[in-house]
Amino acid sequence: MAQASGVKVQDVKDITRIERIGAHSHIRGLGLDDALEARLVSQGMVGQANARKAAGVILQMIRDGKIAGRAVLIAGQPGTGKTAIAMGMAQALGADTPFTTIAASEIFSLEMNKTEALTQAFRRSIGVRIKEETEIIEGEVVEIEIDRPAAGAAATAGKTGKLTLKTTEMETVYDLGQKMIDSLTKEKVQSGDVITIDKATGRISVLGRSFARSRDYDAMGASTKFVQCPEGELQKRKEVVHVVSLHEVDVINSRTQGFLALFSGDTGEIKSEVREQIDQKVAEWREEGKAEIVPGVLFIDEVHMLDIECFSFLNRALESDLAPVLVVATNRGITRIRGTNYKSPHGIPIDLLDRLLIISTTPYSDKEVKQILRIRCEEEDVEMTDDALALLTKVGMETSLRYAIHMIIASALVCAKRKGTQVDVEDIKRVYTLFVDVKRSTQFLQEYQSEFMFNEIQPADADMTDAQV
Ligand SMILES: Nc1ncnc2c1ncn2[C@@H]1O[C@H](COP(=O)(O)OP(=O)(O)O)[C@@H](O)[C@H]1O
Ligand SMILES: [Mg+2]
Repeated sequence: MAQASGVKVQDVKDITRIERIGAHSHIRGLGLDDALEARLVSQGMVGQANARKAAGVILQMIRDGKIAGRAVLIAGQPGTGKTAIAMGMAQALGADTPFTTIAASEIFSLEMNKTEALTQAFRRSIGVRIKEETEIIEGEVVEIEIDRPAAGAAATAGKTGKLTLKTTEMETVYDLGQKMIDSLTKEKVQSGDVITIDKATGRISVLGRSFARSRDYDAMGASTKFVQCPEGELQKRKEVVHVVSLHEVDVINSRTQGFLALFSGDTGEIKSEVREQIDQKVAEWREEGKAEIVPGVLFIDEVHMLDIECFSFLNRALESDLAPVLVVATNRGITRIRGTNYKSPHGIPIDLLDRLLIISTTPYSDKEVKQILRIRCEEEDVEMTDDALALLTKVGMETSLRYAIHMIIASALVCAKRKGTQVDVEDIKRVYTLFVDVKRSTQFLQEYQSEFMFNEIQPADADMTDAQV
C-alpha cells in the first residue's frame, strides 16, 4: 500500500505543468464575487472592473438559461483585455457549457465556404445534454489483488486478479481480467477508494476516498475528496448525463464523414439535409425528455475582419431558436465594412450593431499594468526585483502592455546569461535596447525610410504617420 501511494504523489508532480504558457494562461475566470462585483485582483484578472462585471451579468444569464440568440460586443483599444475577458468567461462557464473561439479571419482560410464555416462554429457552440440509464457497480474498494504470473509467462498469459468491493450492506469479490487491471492501474485505484464501474463499457471512475479512511494520512493530497461508503446493492441503475455539441452529432451522422472525422478534424461541408434531420431528432428527444439544449457561447475575435455576407448571416442565424450567445470583439473605430464601400462604427453594419449589447474596455492605470506584469512574471516563473518591475511598468505605460509582457521572458534569458537569479533593472534595459517597440520602429522607419523597399511615405506627410499608428 505504501508503495502505491508513493507512486501517486510522484505522478501528480509530473502532470502539473502540462499546459503550455499562452498569452492568456494566467486567466482563470472573471474574478467576481457573489454579487458579481469585480474583485481588485482575482483569478488572474486585474482592473477593468466595469467590463468584467458586465461580462459576469451576461454569464449569469447564460447559466440561468435565460438568454440565447443574444449578442455582445466587447470594444476597446488594443491591449485592454478584450480577449482576456472572453477567455475569463469561458473559464467561468466550466467544461459543460460549450464555448467556441474563432478569429474572424479563420472563416476565410478554411477549405469550405464562409457560411458553412460560420454554421459549424454556431453548431459547435450548442450543446445537447443527453440522459441515459446505465447499469453500474458502485462500492468501496476493500482489496485489490493482482496475481503476478511467473516471469516467463507474463507476456502471453495476461494478468488476472481479484477486486473486493463493499457497500454498507454487502461485500462481493469480482474476478479481474487484463483490461480491468489496466484501467484500475490507470485510475490509480487503491483500497479505501469509492469507485463506479460502468457495466457496458467497463469504464472506472473514482468518486473519492471513503470517510472511514480519512485518518490514513499517507495517502492524502490537498485535493483528496471524501465520500460516504455507498448504501444498498452493489449493482445499480444510474442516470448518466453527457453533453455533446450539435456539430459533433452532425459529423457522426453525416454518412460521408463518419465518426473518425471528429478526430482528424477534417469535417468538410455537411449537407443541409443531415442538419435538418438532426434538428428534428433533437426536437423529438427534447419532447420525450431525453435531451436538453445547452446554449453555449460563440466568441468571434477581431470581428471587423468579417465581410458583409458574414454579417448578414449572423443577423439571420441569431434568430434561430437553436442559437448560442454570440460574443464578438474588436479594436476598430469607425471603419469600412469589409466587402462594401460603407463606413460604420467598429466596421459592423448598423443593423447588426443594433442587436449588440456593447461592453467597452478602457486603458489601464500604471498600478493595474504593474499588477498584470507581476501576474505574468509568476505565470512565466520569472523572479524580478521591485525596481525592475517598476521600470517594466513604465515601459508598459509608455509603449504597450503587450510589449512589456513580451519583455519578461526575454529579460529572464538575459538575466540567466549573466548567471543572475533575479531579473534586475540592467536586464530590462538591455532587452529594451535589443528589441524595439512599435513607436521606436516607426520613428526609425521615418528617419531611414528611403533605404527600404516600397516606401510610400512622401517626406511631406511624414508627420502624418504618427496619427495612423
Ligand atoms: N484585466 C486583465 N487582467 C489580467 N491580464 C490582462 C488583463 N487585460 C489584459 N491582460 C493580458 O494582457 C495581454 C493583452 O490583452 P488582450 O486581452 O490580448 O488585449 P485585447 O484583446 O484587448 O487586444 C494578454 O496577455 C492578456 O491576458
Ligand atoms: Mg484580442
